[in-house]
Amino acid sequence: MTLDISRIPTPCYVLEEEKLRANLNLMEQVQQASGGKIILALKGYAMWSTFPIIREVLHGCTASSLNEARLAAEEFGKEVHVYAPAYTDAEFPEILKLAHHITFNSFNQWAKFGQRALAAGVSCAIRVNPQVSEVAVDMYNPCGSTSRLGVTPEEFQPEALEGIEGLHFHALCECGAESLERTLAAFEQHFGQWIPQMKWINFGGGHLMTREGYDLELLIRLVKEFRERYDVEVYLEPGGAVGWQTGPLVASVLDIVHNNMDIAILDTSAAAHMPDVLEMPYRPKVRHAGEPGEKPFTYRLGGNTCLAGDVIGDYAFDKPLQTGDKIVLEDMIHYTFVKNTTFNGVNLPSLAIWTANDQLRMIRTFGYQEFKNRLS
Ligand SMILES: Cc1ncc(COP(=O)(O)O)c(C=O)c1O
Repeated sequence: MTLDISRIPTPCYVLEEEKLRANLNLMEQVQQASGGKIILALKGYAMWSTFPIIREVLHGCTASSLNEARLAAEEFGKEVHVYAPAYTDAEFPEILKLAHHITFNSFNQWAKFGQRALAAGVSCAIRVNPQVSEVAVDMYNPCGSTSRLGVTPEEFQPEALEGIEGLHFHALCECGAESLERTLAAFEQHFGQWIPQMKWINFGGGHLMTREGYDLELLIRLVKEFRERYDVEVYLEPGGAVGWQTGPLVASVLDIVHNNMDIAILDTSAAAHMPDVLEMPYRPKVRHAGEPGEKPFTYRLGGNTCLAGDVIGDYAFDKPLQTGDKIVLEDMIHYTFVKNTTFNGVNLPSLAIWTANDQLRMIRTFGYQEFKNRLS
C-alpha cells in the first residue's frame, strides 16, 4: 500500500487504513495478553467513519462531554465511558441516557450527581491524582502541583465511597510503559487500600503503545499483574496511540515570498489545522525535508492566516519549492481535526481515507456552512 500524494486534493488529512489496522492489531495483542480492556479516547481521535474498523478491536469509547458521548453511542456502540472535570445540570440527564460508566472529578460532583447516576444503573468512579509527574510540559501534565484534575490523597474521602465501583487516574501523555510503572506505584501507595473494593480501575490515556520501541511486554505485565493482584477489571483509554502515525496532512504551496529568508505560504495553517504545533510546541516531520541547511534550499513554511506566528517551522529541501508543490506534514491524524478552528475563515481541510486496496475515499469536504454555523 502506497499513498499516492498526487491524487490528494489539498488541504486534506489522509487516514491510511492499513496503518490504523496495524495499530489496532497491536492493541488487540495487548488486550489478549494482559486481559485489560482498551477504549478509544475521542478527544484525541474521532474520525467516526473509521469506527467500524476500530470497534472490531476496542471495547468502546471514553467521552469528555455530552457531544462526544452521543457520538460514541450513535457511531461506535459498545461501552460508553464519560469523564469531564465537571458536569452541568443541563447536560447530566442527557449523559445518563448514554453512559455505562461515569467518572467524577471530585467528591462534590459525586455528592451532587451520584445518586442519579446510580439510579440510572451507571457504574460510577472517582478520578484520583496519583501526584507523580511523568510529563515534563506543564500544559500536558495532569499531576502538576495545582492541577484541578483528580482528587489528591489529602482530599480523598473514604467515607463517601459507597456506590463507587471504580477509580480512574490519568497522569501520562505520550509516555512509555516505564512511566506507567512509576505511576502505578504512586497510585497504589496513595490509594491502594481502596482498590480491593472496586470493580474496575481505569489507567487513563497517554500510553503510546504504538510508538516504535514502546515496551509492550512491560505494559502487558503491569496490567495483567494488577488485574490478578486486585481481581479488578483494568481499562486503558488512549487517544493518540490509536491514530499514531496513521497518515499525513497534505498541503500545497500557494506562494513564495522573501523576507530575510525564503518563505512558503501553504493552503493550511498551524494555528487552525495543527494547533499542537504552536501549543506544545513541536516541529512536525515534513516528508523529504530536513533541518534548515541540511539540504540546499531552506524555507520557512507558513500558514494562510494573518497570525504572524502561524508558522510550522523551517525546512530544507533538495529542490527549490514551486507554487503548487505538495507538502506532506507527517502524523497529523491525532489531536488535529478534533481541535480545528475556522480562524480567519480558512476552510477546514478535507478528510479522506486511503484504503487498504489503494483507493482514495474522500469522506468529507468542508466549506462556508461550517464556518457560518459556528457564528451567529
Ligand atoms: C482523562 C483522559 N483520558 C484519556 C486521554 C487520552 O490521552 P492520549 O491521547 O494521550 O492517550 C486524555 C488526554 O488528555 C485524558 O485527559
